[in-house]
Amino acid sequence: MIIAPSLLASNHACFGKEAVRATKAGGDWLHLDIMDGHFVPNISFGPQAVKAIRPLTKIFFDVHLMCSKPEILLEPFARAGADEIIIHVELGEQVEPLIWKIKQLGKKVGLAVNPLTEISLVQPFLDKIDLLLVMTVNPGFGGQEFIHETLPKIQQADEWRREKQLRYRISVDGGINFQTAAECARAGADTFVAGTSLFGQRSLKAAVTKMRKIIHANDPAFADLKV
Ligand code: DX5
Ligand code: ZN
Repeated sequence: MIIAPSLLASNHACFGKEAVRATKAGGDWLHLDIMDGHFVPNISFGPQAVKAIRPLTKIFFDVHLMCSKPEILLEPFARAGADEIIIHVELGEQVEPLIWKIKQLGKKVGLAVNPLTEISLVQPFLDKIDLLLVMTVNPGFGGQEFIHETLPKIQQADEWRREKQLRYRISVDGGINFQTAAECARAGADTFVAGTSLFGQRSLKAAVTKMRKIIHANDPAFADLKV
């Protein structure tokens, strides 16, 4: 089980300090949301910011591209220190070449699917990716409410993973808090991106610890062991 605090919800005046704080708080990965003002109606930060943070922590950088032209950004983010690059399945025909390009750059590959997009669209790529990101809000902003209708997608992704004996991670992103993390864990998610619910607490460390306990308590694999 992976917990990935999302830098989008941190204090943007001091990304470096916030990245170190997330690391010290026990975050497994750091989630970095890249928005281009076109694919989503918001702009966040670019490769220069990621490059500046990179030397301050060894934490795994999970870079989520919400961008219309990811092809021009893969190399810059790879050079800036991304460990994984996530692109969106909504990009259509571009998806396959983008996956290969990310692999060529030596990075892990993630594929994201928006709440209104059919989960079946990711099926052809499941054997080529390291992580499937099920968006549990419409991308673009932190602090939105979890969309419960996305839960069956997580279950479906988990079913496919078992059936096809694949190993991709199932990540959830958007509106993940102590309650919704439990629901997603029960549905089969193993990677939890959380911004507001973690950075919004007085103690980030206490929040990460609490979320981890809740996720473990709702881990179906663990429930099987108990039987
Ligand atoms: C939303 C981003 C998320 C965002 C989640 O477009 O992809 O990663 O940071 O933020 P919270 O946890 O606040 O919903
Ligand atoms: Zn994200």
